[in-house]
Amino acid sequence: MRFLITGGAGYIGSHVAQRLLDTGHDVVILDNLSTGHKDAIPPEAEFYDIDLADGQATAQCVSCGPWDAVMHFAALSLVGVSMERPYEYLRSNAVTSLNLIEACAKYGVKRFVFSSTAALFGGKNLPPVIPDTAPVEPASPYGESKLIVERALKWADRIHGMRSACLRYFNAAGADPEGRLGEDHRPETHLIPLAIDALLGRRSSLKLFGNDYPTKDGTCVRDYIHVTDLADAHIYVVSKLDKESVTYNLGNGKGFSNLEVIEALERVSGKKLPWSWAPRRMGDPASLVADSSRFRADLGWNPLYSDIDSIVETALRWRITHPNGYAS
Ligand SMILES: NC(=O)c1ccc[n+]([C@@H]2O[C@H](COP(=O)([O-])OP(=O)(O)OC[C@H]3O[C@@H](n4cnc5c(N)ncnc54)[C@H](O)[C@@H]3O)[C@@H](O)[C@H]2O)c1
Repeated sequence: MRFLITGGAGYIGSHVAQRLLDTGHDVVILDNLSTGHKDAIPPEAEFYDIDLADGQATAQCVSCGPWDAVMHFAALSLVGVSMERPYEYLRSNAVTSLNLIEACAKYGVKRFVFSSTAALFGGKNLPPVIPDTAPVEPASPYGESKLIVERALKWADRIHGMRSACLRYFNAAGADPEGRLGEDHRPETHLIPLAIDALLGRRSSLKLFGNDYPTKDGTCVRDYIHVTDLADAHIYVVSKLDKESVTYNLGNGKGFSNLEVIEALERVSGKKLPWSWAPRRMGDPASLVADSSRFRADLGWNPLYSDIDSIVETALRWRITHPNGYAS
């Protein structure tokens, strides 16, 4: 099959591209390298340096189909920054996605997979494990921008028959088990790479925000899904799109507290990780864990790498072999 991947130079997109290539598919990557890396683009993939904000260039790229599916990862995705620059986030994520969706509809794309997010669930009384049916109530412009795209995709289905899968990821983590790719966000905001840098002495100490949450040890609990399992989920879901559009929560189904992540890193590395307490951050929910049981049941997907030790071990291994991240 032949896939167009936006954001394929980024963390998740590059892992999905690599997994598709490993399983014998053809991949074309569209990315403007704003947060992605040239070195993350698998050498077997065809690459176009295009900004999705440029509707004409986007449409020209999409016109070079046919595509068995388009997978859309490209986005601005820092929740905190979206609170400081709401209109930039709303505009950018909406406009770039609408340019892409419009071009896909014009050139007859039938299957579209979209990186949505757990940030859609920002309401107060959420259950400890969040089902697909939980009420959607974004607590940030970033979450809101993803909801706009989900809704646009509903119209693309109704009007143009383009089926879509909106995959609401929780926390992607870990690195390619073969060590070819890893996580290199700049700035880095994710717990595991920050913790690894503290462990390896590349930052002074890790700050844990809040120790009085109503969780097992008082620290925030998050659902970490290995990026390779997440990549497989994208391949599985394409088959579903022959019949209908779908929306799923995608996570591991298990929550790990910040302290448990630190313990796992210390266990796997045999080293002590320097960390200290800091006050709670505004807007951090105590716990965010996905109920992905419907996805597992519908698609027969079974995560292979998402135990916490495999996640931190693969992430640590890549970070040790790439002390400065990707070179370009
Ligand atoms: N990382 C996570 O845990 C997580 C969780 C939930 C949802 N998501 C979503 O998954 C997607 C991928 O996340 P990631 O962590 O890989 O992010 P990333 O920043 O590593 O990758 C995004 C890629 O998109 C490219 N890009 C951004 N704007 C673009 C534009 N206008 N035109 C062309 N390319 C553009 C960037 O250069 C980068 O290569 C995002 O949509 C994000 O919102 C990520």
